[in-house]
Amino acid sequence: MAFIIAVDGPAASGKGTIASRLAAHYGLPMLDTGLLYRAVGVRLLAIGGDLDDAAAAEASARGLDLSELEKPEVRTRAAGEAASRVAVHPGVRSALFDLQRSFAGQDGGAVLDGRDIGTVIAPEAPAKLYVTASPEVRADRRWKQLTGQGEAVSFEEILADIRKRDERDGGRKDAPMAQAVDAILLDTSEMTISQAFDAALRIVETARAR
Ligand code: DC
Repeated sequence: MAFIIAVDGPAASGKGTIASRLAAHYGLPMLDTGLLYRAVGVRLLAIGGDLDDAAAAEASARGLDLSELEKPEVRTRAAGEAASRVAVHPGVRSALFDLQRSFAGQDGGAVLDGRDIGTVIAPEAPAKLYVTASPEVRADRRWKQLTGQGEAVSFEEILADIRKRDERDGGRKDAPMAQAVDAILLDTSEMTISQAFDAALRIVETARAR
């Protein structure tokens, strides 16, 4: 079986960093699935579309070109918010499903990070992590990242964004953000990046030895 590593968790939990380090460590391809939803939101906003319009959002997902994931706009605060809003539409999720499934199923395995990898996209993954951290710690990380990119935004605004996003991503009906029953919880609140990576590696190595 392909060795799939599923890394889920809320915004700015450190899951992206952990996933890319795991991918580098094992020489596996990696897909940041949040970028798909971000790109769908960005392309809908670019044509003046309404993020709450399910049909328009699905059309945006069906027309997505993977080169759009490389655009700097997908990394902005507005793109994160737009992603969370288009991600509630089942048509958007199903439009992005096959791509994520085939990425997960490639020979040799893959690392995917997102919200529903361990529960919906690759429930058979032998290694599953659910990476989290307190809202304050996550807001601080995201604030540093965004201000580093030149966005003018306060810590309080980011903390409010994070809380709203947790509620929306965890509360939606279709594929809500959730820890899979067989996922291992990794709380990175008190950890440096290298401590978090070491802990993640131990979890994956234990899964590989099974
Ligand atoms: O991981 P991120 O912050 O880039 O994700 C942006 C939004 O995309 C997130 O708030 C919800 C949505 N998303 C999702 O619904 N399912 C995924 N597998 C990944 C992201």
